[in-house]
Amino acid sequence: MKTKITPIIGLQWGDEGKGKGVARIASGLSAKDLIVRFQGGNNAGHTIWHNSVCYVFHLIPSGVFGKAQIHLGAGMVINPSALFEESKMIPKNMPFLKRISVSPHAILTIPTHLTLDTVSEKTRGKKKIGSTGKGISPSYTDLTLRRALRVGDIFFADFEKKYKSLTEEHKTTLKKVFSYEVSNEELKKSEQKFFEGIKFLKSLKLQDSSEMVNEALLGGNKVIAEGAQGALLDVRFGHYPFVTSSHTIASGVGTGLGIPPSYIGGAIGILKAYVTKVGEGPFPTELGGERSAVWCRDKKYIEEEIEFPFPDLNDKDEFEVGIAIRRAGHEIGATTGRLRRTGWIDIPLLKYAIEMNNATELVLTKLDVLSGLKNIKACTHYIINGHRHGGASRKTEKIPFDLSRVKIKPVYKTFKAWKGKLSDYGTKLPSEALTYVKFLEKTLGAPIIYVGTGPEEHHVVERYWK
Ligand code: GDP
Ligand code: IMO
Ligand code: MG
Repeated sequence: MKTKITPIIGLQWGDEGKGKGVARIASGLSAKDLIVRFQGGNNAGHTIWHNSVCYVFHLIPSGVFGKAQIHLGAGMVINPSALFEESKMIPKNMPFLKRISVSPHAILTIPTHLTLDTVSEKTRGKKKIGSTGKGISPSYTDLTLRRALRVGDIFFADFEKKYKSLTEEHKTTLKKVFSYEVSNEELKKSEQKFFEGIKFLKSLKLQDSSEMVNEALLGGNKVIAEGAQGALLDVRFGHYPFVTSSHTIASGVGTGLGIPPSYIGGAIGILKAYVTKVGEGPFPTELGGERSAVWCRDKKYIEEEIEFPFPDLNDKDEFEVGIAIRRAGHEIGATTGRLRRTGWIDIPLLKYAIEMNNATELVLTKLDVLSGLKNIKACTHYIINGHRHGGASRKTEKIPFDLSRVKIKPVYKTFKAWKGKLSDYGTKLPSEALTYVKFLEKTLGAPIIYVGTGPEEHHVVERYWK
């Protein structure tokens, strides 16, 4: 192999700014280079700004506006109607259809997968995961049950028969397990969209992920694997069961594309200057703790705006600081519109994610959002059930097996923040910001190659490792 794949991985709970990171790299790629998605489906929401227009991609790789080939890999789950809708977002003068291909091994999300997802979440009540409701978990479940429909199936005459049979199986489960009767009228509508999507999918180039990636690597071309979600949402190594249903970590690139681990190079790890999380599950550094978790579960953005028209970033009540950061960072789910829970950066979890992904380079996003704070906090270690855990003298802080079963008290280091906005400092970082960035680099043991200072591609301060 002449080159290796570069995974771009979110190191937290998703929404770290992976889309922008991929788009930035993509703008420097050639037509022989490759950008691939290797897992997840339209539960992802990757936001990029292109020519001053904001796009949110759920299935299409964020490098679509560059010259590189883009590929929906074998490890993905694909909702055909969602893909079709998304393709319409792309301006007509952008001939991306010639550059996009899909793996025949990718799993299809069918309409009843969405019903299963929402109905099973409702049944869980307070124990819900907080899924995006896009049918991701039932789609992957069908893969392991060995009854899933795959993209390659759509070219065979028995596809409709197979589709009907799987739909019937889902309907039976819905009825027997969840006492839920599928409305035929509703199903008809979504089926019509589904088959429109299938027609679109048929018009795309089919390409074997493994073959395509191998060829690109042998030719010395660049291959970027765009991660969706984040390391802490990995189905095995995230905070189970509050996870997504795929392998979001760099190793997922191997199984998601059918390539050996040795072809995977160091990852670029994307981390936010604070942390956000959508959905349920433990969040040790959450601003406002349980109060925030409940608030974000129940409230809509508009209700929050009415109740807190001018939240204060320096409020004494951390719950309100959390709201102020959410407002400043526009932290609303790109896929579901839910409030993203906010908290301080968590070093033990970041170290866990960095090690697991071999993240050899880091990108720190949204530092600008912290402008206006007097102090910035970073959790350096935990006190678990009253005992000090990890700590400065230890190289790795161990993450407990199940964060929900222990009482965690984060211990923070406080940093003085800068005055004014980050953008006031042009292409340099104010000394206070630099202290924070250098602390992160040293503690995390990897260089921060650039710092995000705004949503657009050029809103960055480039850095070099010294
Ligand atoms: P992804 O899922 O990891 O691609 O991230 P999302 O797109 O869901 O969320 C990241 C949000 O932050 C998007 O709205 C981006 O436009 C925005 N963003 C990315 N980097 C920066 C940054 O450095 N500063 C600011 N203010 N916004 C950013
Ligand atoms: P990007 O790629 C943030 C979360 C959901 C829920 C859990 C399971 O934009 O970073 P699922 O629908 O996958 O069964 O939901 O995972 N989740 C995400 N959170 N960003 C994402 O994607 C996410 N995709 C799923 O909120 O808690
Ligand atoms: Mg997102």
